[in-house]
Amino acid sequence: MHIAILGLGYVGTTTAACLLKDGHHVYGIDINSAKVQAIGAGRSPVVEPGVEALLTAGLAAGRLSSGSSLAPWLDSLDLVMICVGTPSRADGKLEMVHLLEVTRQLGRQLEDRRTATPLLLVFRSTMAPGTMERLVLPTLEAATGEAPGQRYEVAFNPEFLRESTAVKDYYAPPKIVIGERHPGASRRLLGIYDGLDAPVFEVGFAEAEMVKFVDNSFHALKVAFANEIGRLAIAKGIDPQTVADIFLADTKLNVSAAYLRPGGPFGGSCLPKDLGAMLALAREVGVQVPVLGGTRESNAVHAAWLAQAVQARLAPPGPILLMGLSFKAETDDLRNSPLLELAEALLDAGYDLRVFDPDLDPSQLVGVNFALAAEHQEVLRSCLTRDLATAAAHVGLIVLGKPMPEHLAALPAAVPRLDIPQLRGFDG
Ligand SMILES: NC(=O)c1ccc[n+]([C@@H]2O[C@H](COP(=O)([O-])OP(=O)(O)OC[C@H]3O[C@@H](n4cnc5c(N)ncnc54)[C@H](O)[C@@H]3O)[C@@H](O)[C@H]2O)c1
Repeated sequence: MHIAILGLGYVGTTTAACLLKDGHHVYGIDINSAKVQAIGAGRSPVVEPGVEALLTAGLAAGRLSSGSSLAPWLDSLDLVMICVGTPSRADGKLEMVHLLEVTRQLGRQLEDRRTATPLLLVFRSTMAPGTMERLVLPTLEAATGEAPGQRYEVAFNPEFLRESTAVKDYYAPPKIVIGERHPGASRRLLGIYDGLDAPVFEVGFAEAEMVKFVDNSFHALKVAFANEIGRLAIAKGIDPQTVADIFLADTKLNVSAAYLRPGGPFGGSCLPKDLGAMLALAREVGVQVPVLGGTRESNAVHAAWLAQAVQARLAPPGPILLMGLSFKAETDDLRNSPLLELAEALLDAGYDLRVFDPDLDPSQLVGVNFALAAEHQEVLRSCLTRDLATAAAHVGLIVLGKPMPEHLAALPAAVPRLDIPQLRGFDG
């Protein structure tokens, strides 16, 4: 294929090198003449292992050209990859000026294209969710005078490579994510990744844009978390790498998908207690741990957000049916249960509340849970019901607090639902 790359930085140059290796014709475009000259001579403008050898070989094979505009090659192109920089602005947002400029130029140039097949414009620069819909597409439409589909098609394909291992990452990506206007619109980016062994996700633009932000935020969170644990361990005279070795060996609960789906706040008898003890330890040894401290705050924010979302959905007095009270499915433990807190918040707000929980029999509670039941008498005695059908028939909103699939069939389909474990129903 004939592929133009706009922006010859780390991403553009590596992509050019790998596409050459795969046998494509590559046209490297940049506003920086030094980079254009370097690529034109088969040299890499960036230090990245393996890249220069691929560029040199591509040039020798007669498949590499460079320039300051794609105009000379417009008619022969199958695909354009936009890899211009989107650096940080002072306010933290991404600077869109290069992306906007290159999009406008592309739109204007499309008018001169004589080839009938639509030119596929693949945006690889990192951008905030919503940018393709709100900025890129309107800019292209204004410049071309037409919507995508006929003369051009548009895709967002975030890049996950890391500098220093970029070529390796290109050929072994963790995943391939393609944001497109509708399923199949990008025609799987014309097959450029066909030989790669990676899961492919074809999704809407905003999901693809968000994933890139989420990934890098999580990587940053992991580094900051690991370093807080490291500082704490050192302050206590504990070897941080031994702790890390044990922590990382747990691929069931630690380094895994566990606890990583959006849903309800954490609660129960251990997580809040032991996080609190860790924060107390940090205070005692004078170690600052803003990530760990922020975790508790974040959980409280999430619980408050859920309570507000319920109230926004149906004003008091409701009535509301809350499905679940203990802190998770198949336990009657009420300690630090976010659902018990939610029930109290709804009662305080003046709701007529019914609660159903198949795991809970107040007459069987012992110890701390017996005391909690006494403390939360109104919820446990007045609201808790065993008659799900009657309770559900008279409510204006059902809040699914924890998974209980065997009881869902008993709920009237017409009553709106907020599903906390799935975070469904909260939009709008
Ligand atoms: N560097 C990474 O490891 C990495 C990894 C994944 C994603 N990304 C994202 O990819 C994008 C590119 O990153 P990078 O590190 O390669 O950036 P970079 O700053 O190294 O290169 C960007 C290039 O775009 C060129 N450019 C600017 N305006 C142009 C225009 N109108 N026409 C043609 N070229 C133009 C610049 O001259 C520069 O050479 C960014 O959005 C970045 O966030 C970067």
